[in-house]
Amino acid sequence: MKTLFINIKQLLQVYEQNPSIISGLNMNTVPSIQNAYLLIEDDKIVQYGSMDSNLPNADKIIDVHGKTIFPSWCDSHTHIVFAATREEEFLMKIEGKSYEEIAAAGGGILNSARKVEAATEEELFISASNRLHQLIRLGTGSIEIKSGYGLSTNAELKMLRVIKKLKAHFPIPIKATFLGAHAYPAIYKENKEAYIQLIIDEMLPRIHQEQLADYVDVFCEEGFFSTVDTARILTAAATYGLAPKIHANQLNVSGGVQVGVAHQAISVDHLECMDEAAIQSLKGSNTIATLLPSCSFYLGIPFAPARALMQENIPVALASDYNPGSTPSGNMNFLFSLACIKLKMKPMEALNAMTINGAHAMQVADSVGSITVGKKANFIITKEIPSITYAAYSFGENCIENVYINGSQII
Ligand code: NIG
Ligand code: FE
Repeated sequence: MKTLFINIKQLLQVYEQNPSIISGLNMNTVPSIQNAYLLIEDDKIVQYGSMDSNLPNADKIIDVHGKTIFPSWCDSHTHIVFAATREEEFLMKIEGKSYEEIAAAGGGILNSARKVEAATEEELFISASNRLHQLIRLGTGSIEIKSGYGLSTNAELKMLRVIKKLKAHFPIPIKATFLGAHAYPAIYKENKEAYIQLIIDEMLPRIHQEQLADYVDVFCEEGFFSTVDTARILTAAATYGLAPKIHANQLNVSGGVQVGVAHQAISVDHLECMDEAAIQSLKGSNTIATLLPSCSFYLGIPFAPARALMQENIPVALASDYNPGSTPSGNMNFLFSLACIKLKMKPMEALNAMTINGAHAMQVADSVGSITVGKKANFIITKEIPSITYAAYSFGENCIENVYINGSQII
């Protein structure tokens, strides 16, 4: 079945060949066609061009008169499998407690871990499915999901099995990341070495056996996992073929960026606290800098130095970090605004960071992230807005009219 979309005001992110990662200031370019058509067949993009050219035949024609089409958001960092929200911590935060103080008072990651421990796989699957349905309706067309609220072999495996089930039930590309090294469980508080051994000797082999993860992650941060711990875990994970995507430099200049780069991380994520050495280590590496401004916004911590990174020709991706503690939102449309307003990224830079670069940050760019023949027909049709810049500028406004996933209209 061929469907032809005509009178597209602007068709954005159009590439004849699947583009490689877009770095630094090149991110300000988004190839586009004004007054365009787009032809899809079943679940794939098959042709596009200017309305001034000969239009191809189709079984169905949809006139989108004056609306813009661009690829679905690619969200390369989330924690959407969790058992309960944490509004009680929101209140503590309003009263002035820091993220670290809330964690020390029994909140934080360990709070979520207790709830995941008590939840069944089915319960976790249902709540994560509800979140994912909502995200797709907000324009997310590919996603990475982490474990990390299990913190025991059984609970980590339970979370990863939920992600495996999400992969089987949802029509979008999903990647699974093992984040056993998210926090030390209470029973290992006095024996952190034993928990690292558990990750290396028990969790990783089991995960490998069941083929439950695509990547490994570590929360490399003062008070959590040191650079030495991180290096050990990444080295062990590499023997099972798991490439790193790690949490680095969120709360401190932790050395996490350098460890990630040294272990050929696909991405190092957060980067709110950077120094010159951390920036320089990314330069010339294949590691993507993934920034999570919704987390900075919610926690009230510094925003990552996006401009300094781009100035050094480093590829930047943007992701939501959706989780119950530091970022209770996976709305990529709001993230688009935040990236422009708070990271001082230009709208086209942010668009690249949230589409093609996000796709590269979870290695799904062969099927999503741009309007390219052969890729999945996963795209967003905006309302009749003056420009794509308007969508970032009018923060909080819903500018999405339709969402298509694999050629099917979702909304
Ligand atoms: O990415 N920083 C570590 N992990 C999450 C927060 C987890 C939580 O508070 O539940 C993050 O911000
Ligand atoms: Fe995170």
